[in-house]
Amino acid sequence: MEKVSEKQMTTDVIEEQTDYAAWDTHPPDAEPQRQFYYMELCRRWLKEQQDRLGRPLTAAVITFGCQMNARDSEKLRGILENIGYEMSDTEAADFVIYNTCTVRENANLRVYGRLGRMKHEKEKNPDKRIALCGCMMQESEVVEKLKKSYRFVDIIFGTHNIFKMAELIFRRICEDHMVIDIWKDTDMIVEDLPNDRKYSFKTGINIMFGCNNFCSYCIVPYVRGRERSRQPDDIIREIEQAVSDGVVEVMLLGQNVNSYGKTLAEPISFAQLLRRICRIEGLLRIRFMTSHPKDLSDELIQVMAEEPKICRHLHLPLQSGSSEILKRMNRRYTKKDYLELVDKLRKACPDISLTTDIIVGFPGETEEDFLETMDVVERVGYDSAYTFIYSKRTGTPAAVMDDQIPESVVKDRFDRLLKKVQEKAAAACERFEGRTEMVLVEEINSQDPHLVTGRLSHNLVVHFPGDASLIGHLVPVKLTECHNFYYMGERA
Ligand code: SAH
Ligand code: SF4
Ligand code: F3S
Repeated sequence: MEKVSEKQMTTDVIEEQTDYAAWDTHPPDAEPQRQFYYMELCRRWLKEQQDRLGRPLTAAVITFGCQMNARDSEKLRGILENIGYEMSDTEAADFVIYNTCTVRENANLRVYGRLGRMKHEKEKNPDKRIALCGCMMQESEVVEKLKKSYRFVDIIFGTHNIFKMAELIFRRICEDHMVIDIWKDTDMIVEDLPNDRKYSFKTGINIMFGCNNFCSYCIVPYVRGRERSRQPDDIIREIEQAVSDGVVEVMLLGQNVNSYGKTLAEPISFAQLLRRICRIEGLLRIRFMTSHPKDLSDELIQVMAEEPKICRHLHLPLQSGSSEILKRMNRRYTKKDYLELVDKLRKACPDISLTTDIIVGFPGETEEDFLETMDVVERVGYDSAYTFIYSKRTGTPAAVMDDQIPESVVKDRFDRLLKKVQEKAAAACERFEGRTEMVLVEEINSQDPHLVTGRLSHNLVVHFPGDASLIGHLVPVKLTECHNFYYMGERA
């Protein structure tokens, strides 16, 4: 009935007459019911807009950050789809959400660059809406700057309340100005909201949020809040649901998965959680990140050695090879501890692939300190490593340390490190030559449509002849040609 009367109105009448705020009569207090209520109101509003324009409205979530950020984007997409937006991945969409990162300065600069171009887009499309969320929004200077110089932004929210996006969209519909909602911290974990997986066969699963480690260079604990673990039963239920939807590989996500469960009312270790997840029928592969070396237990190494579903890959951030720098980074392990850990891992899982993160140019880093890092790279022989130039983050202890390193020195060290990392990675990659390994096919190769691209349990990428019917399947592939960090192969 309502639909008929809506259609009879002219465009102008709809715009003048709909008092959207009057729709908001009985919002439930409890979550997630409250959000489903707002999704319904947004859905009604969206329908009106689409009828007025005679076309669907599109939305895009643009992700700038880490895997945790990418997982949040899937949740945002789930909410937007539920509201009825047609999903797109370009900034030409009617509603663009930037899910930001602030771990290094250049992550912030990228956001401002993209945002600058949006002002013009918004002038061209009066129905365009822009939201900003994620880690960068947890910094008050950023929000001040947006309020001052980017008035055209519609909605700003942070990392703790992404579950609340529908409610904020509805507020923006009712109030004709920028809506800002940032929480300083939270102990809330809202379960059972919709989410839209980027791949049908693999997904990230948050097992914990926040971080308590306060590495002295890192902004994450300030923008993601204190460490909170999800209940094991909630995690298992989510994975079981994903598996029944066709997922075969999960990536368990947390800033420090090795401290999972310590703060729960009924504590459980990460290793115990893994054992439970391994029992889920239909799930074929389990990955996790990130592992902090200081908390990597013998129990975990044993589970990794015993459970074939756990992938033969561990991302173990080193940050620096110098014990002195590690101390000033507040990492709470030494070079020796790290190398011993690697030895233990390699004894238990001989063929495991190891990857890492390294920061170059931390305040006070001497040439000798840097050579210690080079030494660890030499000895461990990582399968790959993300190398970062130290970026000063205001509010962190390292930002006010003496001896910030001149750019030219850092650049020189960075280049030397990168060269070594690439040499060692190419050597590590060679060990697979001629082997036949199970590959999870992920997609059609972006350059050659006759090839598909997939990954080994070791996380190594391989391209081989195949078609779309293989996507999401595990197939045996012979690794024939090593190309330094990936393989060409053929079905075995
Ligand atoms: N929780 C993860 C890392 C999350 S941030 C861990 O503890 O390993 C991802 C990576 O960004 C870090 O491992 C670190 O190498 C890098 N990083 C963090 N802060 C940085 C900074 N201020 N400058 C340069 N790199 C940084
Ligand atoms: Fe940052 Fe350290 Fe926490 Fe990782 S463990 S998120 S590097 S503070
Ligand atoms: Fe960036 Fe936030 Fe991840 S700062 S690295 S998106 S936790």
